[in-house]
Amino acid sequence: LRTDSIHPALRFFQKYKIKGFLSDEEGLALYNSTRDVAHIGPCLEVGSYCGRSSVFLGLGCQSKNTTLYAVDHHRGSEEHQPGELYHDAELFDHELQCMDSFPVFRRTLQLAKLEDTVVPIVAPSKLVARDWQTPLSLVFIDGGHSPSMSMEDCRVWSEKIAVGGLLMIHDIFEDERAGGQGPYQAMQAVLNNGRFAWEEKIQSLGVLRRLPEG
Ligand SMILES: C[S@@+](CC[C@H](N)C(=O)[O-])C[C@H]1O[C@@H](n2cnc3c(N)ncnc32)[C@H](O)[C@@H]1O
Repeated sequence: LRTDSIHPALRFFQKYKIKGFLSDEEGLALYNSTRDVAHIGPCLEVGSYCGRSSVFLGLGCQSKNTTLYAVDHHRGSEEHQPGELYHDAELFDHELQCMDSFPVFRRTLQLAKLEDTVVPIVAPSKLVARDWQTPLSLVFIDGGHSPSMSMEDCRVWSEKIAVGGLLMIHDIFEDERAGGQGPYQAMQAVLNNGRFAWEEKIQSLGVLRRLPEG
């Protein structure tokens, strides 16, 4: 197998097993999208976990000499808590009795040589958004998946995207038998507000583009 023809992100994930919730196809769509809109401004993601999406987005940003802001409180979403379906005991801090994915995330950034490109922001998304002023070229939403959390993230962060920029939302399932409806309902709300147009869907990754004003 020749490794020099393999995409750099896939080569990285062949070498290092990084925990995460994103398919290769969705990840490559993130990588390509960051490159397409990099001229507009920096990128931001909500929900980094151990860094799987951050590597795809970060390598895209690095190739265009722009920045990825990676927002996560690293305390896990509802489904990561003890007793829940996606709980991972290796990420549980027993002394503090809470989840902590930040050490693993930071390690991923170093392994991927992305410390010159990715700025980790360890805080709740809502707090980061409060004073955020910089227009963004791309926002990837993959934080809390409840209807209220998804709605809040999509509403707040979509307002920070520059004209021509992209809002990419993970875990879009039209059919409730396929998955939770929070991200899907949040995406519908953004579309109904009229400032974004539907672009495409790659597996469960929905893509919207910010329209010009007026
Ligand atoms: C599904 S995981 C993200 C998976 C990641 N994008 C990947 O590619 O593997 C969701 C992450 O969102 C974070 N999160 C949930 N609610 C949040 C909030 N309100 N603010 C910041 N981070 C949040 C959790 O800590 C968790 O790490």
